[in-house]
Amino acid sequence: MPSHESMDASAMTAPAAPAAPSRPVVDDFGALLAATRTRIDERLAGWLRPRVAAATEISEEVGIVAAAVHELALRGGKRMRAALVAAAFEAWSTDARSDGARTPGWAACEPAMMAVELLQTYLLIHDDWMDDDDVRRGGPAVHVLLREKLGALALGDAAAILAGDLASGYAQEALLETALPTDRVFRAARVFARIQVEVVTGQLAEMRAAGRSVGAAGLPSVETIHALKTASYTVTGPLLLGAALAGASDARAAELERFGRPLGIAFQLRDDLLGVFGDPSATGKPVWNDIRQGKRTALVAELRGDARAEALLARVFGKADAAEADLEAVVRVMEDRGARGRVEARVRELSAEARRALDVMAPTMSERGRRWLGGAVAALGERST
Ligand code: IPE
Ligand code: IPE
Ligand code: MG
Ligand code: MG
Repeated sequence: MPSHESMDASAMTAPAAPAAPSRPVVDDFGALLAATRTRIDERLAGWLRPRVAAATEISEEVGIVAAAVHELALRGGKRMRAALVAAAFEAWSTDARSDGARTPGWAACEPAMMAVELLQTYLLIHDDWMDDDDVRRGGPAVHVLLREKLGALALGDAAAILAGDLASGYAQEALLETALPTDRVFRAARVFARIQVEVVTGQLAEMRAAGRSVGAAGLPSVETIHALKTASYTVTGPLLLGAALAGASDARAAELERFGRPLGIAFQLRDDLLGVFGDPSATGKPVWNDIRQGKRTALVAELRGDARAEALLARVFGKADAAEADLEAVVRVMEDRGARGRVEARVRELSAEARRALDVMAPTMSERGRRWLGGAVAALGERST
């Protein structure tokens, strides 16, 4: 269990931030995640409330869309991305170093932590519509919510696209509220733009690959897609944001990229596994939709060249109305033909690669930052939610 003591309220430098409550000192990544959840949920709620009110003043419909963004942003979520911003900021914050015994914590980068979670809100809204997934974080996907609230399918879908765009606008706005030297915020804004280009490119690459036969030529590898669509905005991006805001050098940023890329791919491989073998009540997402939608996940790629498995997939893969028994047969084949085991092994390999990258990072990194990054490897690779 982590020890507890109050954090220094003077560490709060962002404008308009509510007074920092007394918070625990967090010594491991699990405790950082818990503290991040409490703090970011509270700040996001305060930050979004007046925006929903302003939207409602324009019209009832605009208010409904802003409220849907608010609802998904606050519905829960692991807050891994926000925690990684904090971990990298803490690792390289010169303020923390100059303070000696006591670190000022990550309060100054909280706007960036909110920004990555708002970016996630935007991406999830669009992703669920594209993937035709009705459930997210244990509740209705935003397009489902808006279809119902606006009373028409096409109107709800159009509003969901705009809800995602709105969350994206909020994300940029939050990031630019960071009250740190402008050259650092400018670097962070460039990172933020880059990760958005990468995730959208990755989503497009996956869309093109979906439904095509497992061995189709000319398609990017599953890991290339995973690096673009997930690793960038989930792991390397948050780390680079934290490092940029801490004033870390390009060399330190390069080290973080070498650490974050394998870890981010491992995170998405775990998502592929959870999409088939996970418990929907824990993940808050449905199972087997990846198969129904013909998504070329790592599990599917692992069945390549296996005639029996490919014959079964040809019948079931990408069929929205696939029978339960056929889906169960695919799941069994993924298990029996070793696809699950090979993907699990790859997660372990990538996690080990991330740990090696952490081991050779500059020794000047703060002790707590190093501990958090080490803990992130286990948390991201071994998660069950
Ligand atoms: C879901 O991300 C989308 C992926 C990149 C796999 P998370 O698993 O981090 O979702 P939340 O934010 O915790 O809901
Ligand atoms: C999500 O990818 C990555 C995003 C860019 C949001 P998936 O479609 O594989 O993730 P889930 O399973 O819906 O969360
Ligand atoms: Mg999806
Ligand atoms: Mg998707």
